Amino acid sequence: MVDVIGVGANSVDIVYRLAALPGPDSPFAKAPIADTSVSCGGQVATTLATCSALGLRTSYIGTLGSDDRGRLMRAELVRHGIDLSHAILREGENPFAVILIDERSGERTVLWRRAPGMALAPSDLDRGAIASARLLHVDDVDVEASVAAAGIARERGLPVTSDVERADADGRRLIDAVTVPILAEHVPRGLTGETDLARALAALRRAHHTMVCVTLGAGGAALLEHDQLHTEPGVPVRAIDTTGAGDIFRGAFIHALLAGHPARDILRLANAAAARSCTRRGAMSSVRAVSPEP
Ligand SMILES: Nc1ncnc2c1ncn2[C@@H]1O[C@H](COP(=O)(O)OP(=O)(O)O)[C@@H](O)[C@H]1O
Ligand SMILES: [Mg+2]
Repeated sequence: MVDVIGVGANSVDIVYRLAALPGPDSPFAKAPIADTSVSCGGQVATTLATCSALGLRTSYIGTLGSDDRGRLMRAELVRHGIDLSHAILREGENPFAVILIDERSGERTVLWRRAPGMALAPSDLDRGAIASARLLHVDDVDVEASVAAAGIARERGLPVTSDVERADADGRRLIDAVTVPILAEHVPRGLTGETDLARALAALRRAHHTMVCVTLGAGGAALLEHDQLHTEPGVPVRAIDTTGAGDIFRGAFIHALLAGHPARDILRLANAAAARSCTRRGAMSSVRAVSPEP
């Protein structure tokens, strides 16, 4: 039996660390690369790896390419103990990203590529696998598939957590389809036009949502439960690479949710795990930081 089944993205990240990110209009729109590396990530893959590191049984539904990057990604998912029996192997290029890390803050800029042939469709989903998990986690990369998966899970009364970064009609659809939307910082205002966070989250909340959460970078996170807004400041760390922080936040959130912790503790545990991950490089490679003894 699987605890957490995830539907969504994986990515092979080609990481360039820069002393500072040059703008195209800066006097010198050129910058030396301080360091290069390749590591595995992607929203759902990283969240599942976090859940695995915290002792949960996990399974991944998403597309994997047939190239070297696809093979690397597959091996990394397996290494993290993630079941791939419902993943879809496709002829073609695995999704990848070029990630620019600004060494001054550890903040990252992501340039991503995902060939159209890698799209996940509702017909790719294994209904039985989703229905037999304890929780479903989805992202907003292939919204049709995520919404369909959420429907299958909710028919069975399962909680559905999500990663919503898109402040558009698809982002809104996905929020409506899940039970625990976990939004990126710009989404509440982007979708509602409301600058007050409590009011924006209240405007997005649906009757079937048990909680609505938003991550706030170094500022931590906030969560609306019933009519109460819980806010938790971020844990101060010297961030060297924030890649995957939001995904690791969601993995620790899911672990705490399944353990039955109250909202405030869920936020605290998720913030702590995400902050620790910012002190390590990469997305899936910084998941080790969430284990009690990294
Ligand atoms: N510089 C930082 N210092 C400490 N914690 C951070 C930092 N950046 C992110 N976090 C943690 O990671 C979580 C997710 O980060 P955020 O920037 O909101 O998401 P994203 O990964 O989408 O950029 C935050 O809620 C916070 O807990
Ligand atoms: Mg961030």
